[in-house]
Amino acid sequence: MKIPFVDLHAQYLAHKQAIDSAIQNVIEKTDFIKGEDVKLFEQEFAKTYGSKYCIAVANGTDAIYAALKMLGIGIGDEVITVANSWISTSETIGQTGATPVFVDIDEYFGIDTTKIEQKITTKTKAIIPVHLYGQAVDILKVKEICQKHNLYLIEDCAQSHFATYNNKFVGTFGDLATFSFYPGKNLGAYGDAGAIITDNEELATKLRMYVSHGALVKHTHIIEGINSRLDTLQAAILRVKLPYIFEWNEKRYQNAQYFTRKLSKIKQISLPKERPNSKHIYHVYSIRAEKRNDLQTFLNESGISTAIHYPVPLPLMPAYKHLNYSENDIPVANKFKDEILSLPMYPELSEDMMDYIVAKIKEFYAHE
Ligand SMILES: Cc1ncc(COP(=O)(O)O)c(C=O)c1O
Repeated sequence: MKIPFVDLHAQYLAHKQAIDSAIQNVIEKTDFIKGEDVKLFEQEFAKTYGSKYCIAVANGTDAIYAALKMLGIGIGDEVITVANSWISTSETIGQTGATPVFVDIDEYFGIDTTKIEQKITTKTKAIIPVHLYGQAVDILKVKEICQKHNLYLIEDCAQSHFATYNNKFVGTFGDLATFSFYPGKNLGAYGDAGAIITDNEELATKLRMYVSHGALVKHTHIIEGINSRLDTLQAAILRVKLPYIFEWNEKRYQNAQYFTRKLSKIKQISLPKERPNSKHIYHVYSIRAEKRNDLQTFLNESGISTAIHYPVPLPLMPAYKHLNYSENDIPVANKFKDEILSLPMYPELSEDMMDYIVAKIKEFYAHE
């Protein structure tokens, strides 16, 4: 059996007619830039999220960069973030001229909130927790720290669309939240796409201006901005998909429960833990496995694609050599990096496919 890591084609086939017609519609109207679908997607996404404002942008990386810039973060500032994430979370901090300060992770793969305060200095301006793999961090604790030290809170929700903490969507706890709709995300476009949500009107206006060359009105550039628009074609596709997000998240959740039941007796692996009071949306189902590399090779040879999120913690990347982090600064992330393995996870995964994955993992460890 061949099982891809993600299967975007299966989802397309299920919604082919609606997607094809949404794309056709944009082409007929030729409103490729700042089209009607962009405005409507912003309204619908904000409404679904229960947030006042949504600013659609070209991708999730620009969303973080624009957020930092419009919060006034720049040279000489420090921003605290997490050691295990995709580099967008930290490279955007560096791009503003500020310095990323990395904190280790906890057993749920999120920022370890007990280790944040020791990293706060007079230069610290903001914290960017990442709700990684689709699971909320201990966001109330992060918020409490931000309030106590007067720091901005930017939630990186690229992997956690509509995950909850205390029955409240992640992304609604901070000053603003950023999203990626990269194709493989739970809500994915057919190319790059992203968004920012906030309840702060002033910030929303600034962000809208910044991502549109610093102008709210054509040819009136109040500041130098960037060009980060959501493509109308992508907005039209996202509008077709948005109504299904809760159904898809629930299907992923059920698939994750199935894996967890079936894999629970294998002593060589640890299964993903769900943080109390949170609802995981399983963008990624990451186990921790003994002999991880050999297991990955064996699964690959058996037709099962897997991934590692992420093989090198951010502070240990060559890009951050100048910051002089060592493995001892982030012991948990450093240990997990050699153990984590993301199994295929998507709504269309069938029981047969999951049974095959489970059987192959059992087969690998049978002689241990
Ligand atoms: C945690 C996290 N933050 C930010 C991003 C950036 O999103 P994009 O690829 O849309 O720029 C990603 C994308 O993979 C991500 O996983």
